Amino acid sequence: KNGSLRFDDQVVLITGAGGGLGRAYAMAYARRGARVVVNDIGATRRGDGHSDGPAASVVEEIRAMGGEAFANTDSVADPVGGESMVAAAVAQYGRLDILVNNAGNLRDVSLARMQPEDWDAILDVHLKGAFCVTAPAFRIMKDQNYGRILFTTSAAGLYGNFGQTHYAAAKMGLVGLMQSLCIEGRKNGIQANVVAPLAASRMTEDLLPPEVLENMDPATVAPLVLWLTSSACTESGSIVNMGLGCLNRVQLVTGRGVRFDATTPLQPEAIARMWGDVLDMKDARPFPDMNAFILGLFS
Ligand code: NAI
Repeated sequence: KNGSLRFDDQVVLITGAGGGLGRAYAMAYARRGARVVVNDIGATRRGDGHSDGPAASVVEEIRAMGGEAFANTDSVADPVGGESMVAAAVAQYGRLDILVNNAGNLRDVSLARMQPEDWDAILDVHLKGAFCVTAPAFRIMKDQNYGRILFTTSAAGLYGNFGQTHYAAAKMGLVGLMQSLCIEGRKNGIQANVVAPLAASRMTEDLLPPEVLENMDPATVAPLVLWLTSSACTESGSIVNMGLGCLNRVQLVTGRGVRFDATTPLQPEAIARMWGDVLDMKDARPFPDMNAFILGLFS
């Protein structure tokens, strides 16, 4: 219809869609005709507890505006939960076109004070959670020869932030997961990308002043998520920042560096002398995969 992006015959599963960004995505997809699986365990910000309320209320909102949705309260951190929510999507709607990995929790603490439980709680939801849901979804999408998978990273992961070594490790881990999945999915029409949102939610409400939060409505990030997961979009393997009125790409690039004779180890003193050239990013290049990087070393 006039080139507008519609999702009429498509099914989308959004994890952590009971509030914040996930809710905004769910509403936006539903408004454009998608059938939406609203997953949310209804946990606290730390990731504790369980409530059916958040997922159910978003489903109610979608139905109230004439959209199609159903709730799922499985945990993404559990392989059985991942299998079960993907199976529920297929049982209910017959297929699964889009997966938005969005569920998350927060437990800021410096590494000096971090307990193994803190590390596990964050890695389990963000990184293992993405695996637990994406693996079964990917198998369905392979059979369909179509799929769009999105992961949610964070500026903390991409650039680093005090008190978030576990969160940043998980969020950067998702970039690695996405980059390799993008290669594995290519021949079956499956595309994977990463978004780094900035939005007012219970995750950020006490970190920023009200006048900044005013410009961070989660609804302002949803259009990027819809575009990246639409059938019209051919992008795969990209990382995109969005929020505070800014939309831009993040890319890993490799400097030209220096060449040395690989048959003779360099002395550390020699590295010290050439350090400026090693760090120089003039003419830095991105590489689409590992093999291109290795071949690219010689060009
Ligand atoms: P939020 O706390 O409102 O949403 C996260 C949702 O995930 C909650 O509804 C929670 O119940 C759910 N959840 C937690 N553990 C779960 C589990 N095991 N299984 C299923 N659902 C679970 O926070 P927000 O801000 O909407 O965050 C969404 C995503 O965006 C997260 O991955 C977060 O790390 C990421 N993010 C958010 C930023 C922001 O500025 N709000 C910045 C960068 C990243």
